[in-house]
Amino acid sequence: MTIKCTLSAVAPERARADLLAVPVFKGRRPGPGADVVSGALHGAEAAGFEAKPGEVLVVGAPEGVNAKAVAFVGLGVAGDVDLETLRRAAAALARKARSVRTVATTLAGAAPASVDAADAAAAVAEGAALGGYQYLRYKSEAKRSQLTSLALLGAGGARVQSAVDAAITIADATCWARDMINEPAGAQSPADFAAAAERRLRGKGVKVQLWQGAELTRRKLQGTITVGQGSVRGPRFLRMEYAPAGARHTLALVGKGVVFDSGGLSLKTSTGMEQMKTDMSGAAAVVAAMSMLQALGVRHRVVGYTPLVENMPSGNAYRLGDVITYRNGRTVEVMNTDAEGRLILADALALADDEEADAIVDLATLTGACMVALGPDIAGLMGNNDAWNAQVKAAADRAGEKVWALPLPDGYRKMIDSEIADIKNTGGPHGGALTAGLFLQEFVGRTPWVHLDIAGPARANSDDGYLVRGGTGFGVRTLAELTQSFRRPR
Ligand code: BES
Ligand code: MN
Ligand code: ZN
Repeated sequence: MTIKCTLSAVAPERARADLLAVPVFKGRRPGPGADVVSGALHGAEAAGFEAKPGEVLVVGAPEGVNAKAVAFVGLGVAGDVDLETLRRAAAALARKARSVRTVATTLAGAAPASVDAADAAAAVAEGAALGGYQYLRYKSEAKRSQLTSLALLGAGGARVQSAVDAAITIADATCWARDMINEPAGAQSPADFAAAAERRLRGKGVKVQLWQGAELTRRKLQGTITVGQGSVRGPRFLRMEYAPAGARHTLALVGKGVVFDSGGLSLKTSTGMEQMKTDMSGAAAVVAAMSMLQALGVRHRVVGYTPLVENMPSGNAYRLGDVITYRNGRTVEVMNTDAEGRLILADALALADDEEADAIVDLATLTGACMVALGPDIAGLMGNNDAWNAQVKAAADRAGEKVWALPLPDGYRKMIDSEIADIKNTGGPHGGALTAGLFLQEFVGRTPWVHLDIAGPARANSDDGYLVRGGTGFGVRTLAELTQSFRRPR
């Protein structure tokens, strides 16, 4: 459960809360609402507080303040404060406030006048809800955060309230995705993932179809069948449809759902396998996104597709040299069973293309090469339509998720030529993110399509701003922006 977030017009000194949190700028300049506690800001307790971004100092409440304690939230240089600064500051606050139940804050008022008040309030709500996330399912002595309610003091009105509500909806969906990613693979088979997705989507205006066994064969989802055949926990495929009345255009969302990637017969090293429960992050992001469309009032039709498999070596595992025939007629020679993501995504992309989506976006923890190129924090963006690439990039930028465009060079297409089939599932030793993208491109026909390689940012190795060590839910916030603002690319 994420925190409850309300708006309040009460003066900061009168707010009844366990903690009153006020912004402070570099040089200990009091931000909005901090004047009432500026005595404490210059008192002995606050010595050493520099108001750097991410710095939070809790002191006793001075005379005349109703709250039980005061938190100074550092924001750095006043003129540099933007939505990302607010999200990160609110996250730092939520972490510092774990032992209290209620926080009242004037933080949203700290943005320069050029920042919209509703956006600022939403950023504070989102940062607090995401930064306070904890995964405690397997901690026997859990120190669960007590923080349940955040009152935003200052800007009010219906527009601000609805922006804050949307932010909480999005943060809640992101935290659901994080829970799914953090769940150990032993406790989450493809069938378990599908069941959790069905539960999540109940009452959310989404029709869910779950396919398995002979149904996968009938629908010609041969990549999913083949990759999944090595595991005793068989493959599943989810098709999710949100179709509001009057919708004119269809956006397709595709997510890679490998609940565990051992590499298969092309077995990974032990170290390479450690985090491979994360390999369903794309699918988790897609289901999370589907679950918030109704609450966000999205007016387009959105169809989600997630192939779900476990990639395992066994006596029944797929082999190097095997050939897969896809529903669009393309044949693929398997040269490495660890390049499994593209093999299952191909099913979903070909299906979305067949069902005449107006645009497709896929999210996949697809290649280590993308992490080599862009590092751990930035997703790679590839696509076949400049306008659609730009639309997805703009949505990610607004959401505060880092993506960077990579090319799909025609000249590299020959790297995936196969000796006996149309293509093979590996390229050469170089440009691995791009040859994976070129592989996927073979399955989307002429439909505008973007591929986000989220191998890096799907996981955080340390707490950082509103990210918490573990699965990040990367992509959920981009999909929230994209589904709301979608325009059919031409
Ligand atoms: N799931 C991995 C990619 C990955 C690696 C994600 C590290 C997150 C962290 C993917 O299935 C994979 O194994 N890709 C191979 C492709 C290669 C065999 C062509 C890779 O990147 O090494
Ligand atoms: Mn793999
Ligand atoms: Zn994988």
